[in-house]
Amino acid sequence: MIVNERIVSYIHSLERSNGPLLDEMEAYAKENRVPIIRKEVESFLKVLLTMKQPEQILELGTAIGYSAILMGGCLDEKSKIITIENYEKRIPIARENIRRAGMEDKIHLIFGDALEEMKKMGNESVDFLFMDAAKAQYPFYLDEALRLLKPGAVLVADNVFQEGDLVESRYVVNRRDRTIYTRMREYLYRVKNESSLVTSILPVGDGLTVSVKER
Ligand SMILES: C[S@@+](CC[C@H](N)C(=O)[O-])C[C@H]1O[C@@H](n2cnc3c(N)ncnc32)[C@H](O)[C@@H]1O
Repeated sequence: MIVNERIVSYIHSLERSNGPLLDEMEAYAKENRVPIIRKEVESFLKVLLTMKQPEQILELGTAIGYSAILMGGCLDEKSKIITIENYEKRIPIARENIRRAGMEDKIHLIFGDALEEMKKMGNESVDFLFMDAAKAQYPFYLDEALRLLKPGAVLVADNVFQEGDLVESRYVVNRRDRTIYTRMREYLYRVKNESSLVTSILPVGDGLTVSVKER
C-alpha cells in the first residue's frame, strides 16, 4: 500500500455502493483473486468520466468486466466502450456480467492481445483510454496510444507504483518483477516528457497517471 492504510480505510468507508451487480462482482473478484480497480481509483475514474463525457472509450484489461461496467454507468447513450482481454477463461464471465448490466450495446468486448488489437484501430479514434493490462507492456501501449488518442483525449494508467517497488533500488526488487520495474519507470519518464501530453502522476490506489493529449 503506497498511501497510509488508515487514510485509505477512511476513504473506503465513505464510498457508496455501485449497485448490486457491481457489489456481487467485487465479492467474486475478491474470492477468486481477480484483480480489479481499487475503490479510490473507481471514484476517480467516475469523476473524470462524468467531467469529460467521452464518446469512445478504450480499456486495456477487462478481467471480469468490473471497471468497464462501472465506466459504462457514467456515460450517456451514444458513448461506447471497447475493452480488450487476453485471458480466455475470463471472457465468458465478463460477457455474462455485461449482459446482466444491460450494456451489450455499449460495451464491446474483444478477446485478444491489447497491443495487437490497438494496432488495428484507427488514428485519433479514442477520447478516453484506461490502461490496466500487462504492466510490462505500458511503454508499447503508449506508442499506440499516442496515435489513437484524439486531441484533448485523456489517458489513465493504473498500478504505476507497483506497490511502492518503483521507488526502491532495482536490486531489491524480485528478479521476476524487474522487467515491470524497468518498463514502468520508462513509461513514467516518457509520459511526463512526451511533448504532446500533459501528465500528472498521482498516489491514488497503487498509483495512477492521468495524461491529456494537447489540442
Ligand atoms: C488488473 S486486471 C483488469 C481489471 C479491470 N480493468 C477492472 O478493474 O475490472 C488486468 C487484466 O489484463 C489482462 N491482460 C494481461 N495481459 C494482457 C494482454 N497482453 N492483452 C489483454 N489483456 C491482458 C489480464 O488477464 C487481467 O484480466
